[in-house]
Amino acid sequence: MKAVILVGGEGTRLRPLTCNIPKAMVPILNRPFLEHLVRYLEKHGVRDIILAMGYLPDPIQSRLGDGAEFGVRMTYMVEESLLGTAGAVKNAESLLDEPFIVFNGDILTEIDLTAIMRRHQEIKPKASIALTPVDNPTIYGVVETDARGMVKHFVEKPSWDEVTTNMINAGIYILETEVLAHIPASVPCMFENYLFPRLLDLGEPILSYPSNAYWIDIGTPEKYLQVHHDLLLRYGDEYIRTEGESQIHPAAEIEGPVLIAEGCAIAEDAKIKGPAVFGPRCRVDNGAIVEGGVLWDGVSVGKMAELNNCVVGTGSNIQEKCHIPEGCVLGDNVRVESGLKMANATRVEPDTYLG
Ligand code: GTP
Repeated sequence: MKAVILVGGEGTRLRPLTCNIPKAMVPILNRPFLEHLVRYLEKHGVRDIILAMGYLPDPIQSRLGDGAEFGVRMTYMVEESLLGTAGAVKNAESLLDEPFIVFNGDILTEIDLTAIMRRHQEIKPKASIALTPVDNPTIYGVVETDARGMVKHFVEKPSWDEVTTNMINAGIYILETEVLAHIPASVPCMFENYLFPRLLDLGEPILSYPSNAYWIDIGTPEKYLQVHHDLLLRYGDEYIRTEGESQIHPAAEIEGPVLIAEGCAIAEDAKIKGPAVFGPRCRVDNGAIVEGGVLWDGVSVGKMAELNNCVVGTGSNIQEKCHIPEGCVLGDNVRVESGLKMANATRVEPDTYLG
């Protein structure tokens, strides 16, 4: 099957990490998110991938090229103005001539896509939707199903007294091409609140595929940190992995799980506690403490500075004795002057000077 990956959204909830790159390109364990998704699709036999792009398409196209490096063929569609999730797929209609997969471009999962495709082909509904359980369904679109797994209702962001299930739309669909006829061309349109409810109104069968497999939507800084925790904690606290050459002083204290890209310099008496990820060319100076978090490319952490579970964008410079506490998110090229103490979960736009 072909797959359409939706990567056109502005990723506003993930700002400032999405000011200079689209959400699909934010690094997960030092690789752009999309690389993980493309490898997953390839593993499930998907060789033809259409990327439905809008916001900041160039970094995606220049990284993935024709797809040969990943064993797939990439085709790119760019929307001049955003068409919404369903509108973006309608825009690719000329490329779709048999049942196809749609994937939200911000979901990291181990759902068995092969099994979903198999079930779709056995039961032959007009659409199949993967479902995943969540603790708090009130912030998502929940999907009610009958005993045979056919979808009965979609309820967007139900209040707690409307909640009848914790199974939500996982953002992974298989669609028959004929459903595209129900999507208006060239106007914004969403699957969740337009196409799927309309198919139900028309009596068209929609099959659910519930799964307890790992699933996370990386769309907020909290979830972005969470996915790193989830993936790294699988390796345990003995795990200290360096990718290429780095200078790590033997007197630096490092407790895993930690991933360190090439060209980093970790000084004497620096303390690092996982789960933490360092992008290429990061520097942690004498006596600095990094407890959890994700540092992108070329971040420097000055002497005696302390970072707790933060995300720091490319090229940012945190000078000595700063304190960047839990959940702060700094965009690219932020400079934090010596001794500055931030409030928890502060978000800082790129190119900001904080002095
Ligand atoms: P927020 O602005 O934070 O809500 O994020 P978003 O709009 O980028 O993502 P959202 O979670 O709302 O959308 C789910 C997926 O659909 C993401 O991978 C988006 O990139 C993608 N998407 C959303 N709207 C569009 C669109 O208009 N066109 C395309 N091609 N993709 C879209």
